Amino acid sequence: MTGILMSGPELTGIDFDVLAATALARCDAVAACTEQEGRITRTFLSPAMEACHQRVRAWMESAGMTVSVDRAGNLRGYYAASGQLESGEAAPRLIIGSHLDSVPNGGRYDGVLGVMLGIALVEALEGRRLGFGIEVIGFSDEEGVRYGLPFIGSRAFTGKLLPPHLARRDANGVAMFAALDAYACAHPGVVNARLHPQTRGYLEFHIEQGPVLEHAGLPLGVVETIAGQSRAAVTFAGRAGHAGTTPMFLRRDALAAAAEWLVAVESAARLMPGLVATTGRISCDPGAANVIPDMVRCSLDVRHADDEIRHAAVRNFLTTAEAIGSRREIEVEHVVEFEQAAVDLDAGLIALADKAVSDANISPRHMTSGAGHDAMIVAPHIPAAMIFLRNPGGISHHPEESVLAEDVASALHAGLHFLDHFQEYLHQPMESEPKSCTT
Ligand code: GLV
Ligand code: MN
Ligand code: MN
Repeated sequence: MTGILMSGPELTGIDFDVLAATALARCDAVAACTEQEGRITRTFLSPAMEACHQRVRAWMESAGMTVSVDRAGNLRGYYAASGQLESGEAAPRLIIGSHLDSVPNGGRYDGVLGVMLGIALVEALEGRRLGFGIEVIGFSDEEGVRYGLPFIGSRAFTGKLLPPHLARRDANGVAMFAALDAYACAHPGVVNARLHPQTRGYLEFHIEQGPVLEHAGLPLGVVETIAGQSRAAVTFAGRAGHAGTTPMFLRRDALAAAAEWLVAVESAARLMPGLVATTGRISCDPGAANVIPDMVRCSLDVRHADDEIRHAAVRNFLTTAEAIGSRREIEVEHVVEFEQAAVDLDAGLIALADKAVSDANISPRHMTSGAGHDAMIVAPHIPAAMIFLRNPGGISHHPEESVLAEDVASALHAGLHFLDHFQEYLHQPMESEPKSCTT
């Protein structure tokens, strides 16, 4: 083994347990940055995210990184390559990133752990510089809670935050472009939210958010494909009326129609292996116990690793809504708000991740991610890989989300080997330049 970090087959002098304990304690400290007392809720450009940035920035700086926030609210720490501080010359770089936002009442590891592992890997270098720089990125929004649009941070980073996205409004009517302008005014040093042209790879650590690794008895897994997803808004408009006087056969109850549709979607999704369909948000007006509902709005989230199967399922679900509506004299409208194709991660970096996981004495298992990740937005632009950590009980998007400290230590062990293999990989000719990003 001839890499920078190795001495013989083992890494020397690095206490992965201590580094893992620190990374986990930092996840706890970030969890305290929340918009809701007693819950973990941290959304795009919120005061809670600002508080989170202050903490994460301090850890990045003490690890030797130069830290900035960008025009999209992403937190970015850069650990320069060997000789780069003196020469000021550009160097190839590896990004280690994930997101710092959460779903409402989420867990403390989804996204955050990946950022903390990036910082811990830089700390493990103890000031040694590599032949490439390391950029640790905490993306500002992956969950899409505030604007109903996921991946805002990584979209901006890859030039895919477009005018219709920027025009979206949050629940208080604040347009995204206005929120971003206010953020830039409050942070005069903001840098351009763009992928650095010297970036040669992207690595994301993330909890699995499912039970596969636990079932297989494995601490880590290597992601091959991230399932595509569609999101739609479906509204059912009926007629309000008196709950005590309107006979059942004369009603046009929007909520009863929506309920029939939800159960139909669930039944159809169960019949197709690998397909998942969820309505996680529903509103019902006018919202009184003694009034027949006249307006119901439902979200719809559909995912599958095969884009054709997903598209066909979405068409089927929307047609079913129309059929139920026409039978019940309910007007149904739907709009597909967001489509994200399934993404294969990079074969070259997957091979490095496989080697790194094997070096940490774990048999590398390939898997598909049903969850969306910033990696799927970045992957069309630069080679990207993901390493999953076992998630006990497969519980995620929930306060009981957890990881095992020994798995975090294994991820760090694999991560250091990945850095070592990435050094060798950089000596191979690049197939193409990173595809340009303009935001
Ligand atoms: C992100 O967590 C998603 O997959 O929705
Ligand atoms: Mn999530
Ligand atoms: Mn996540």
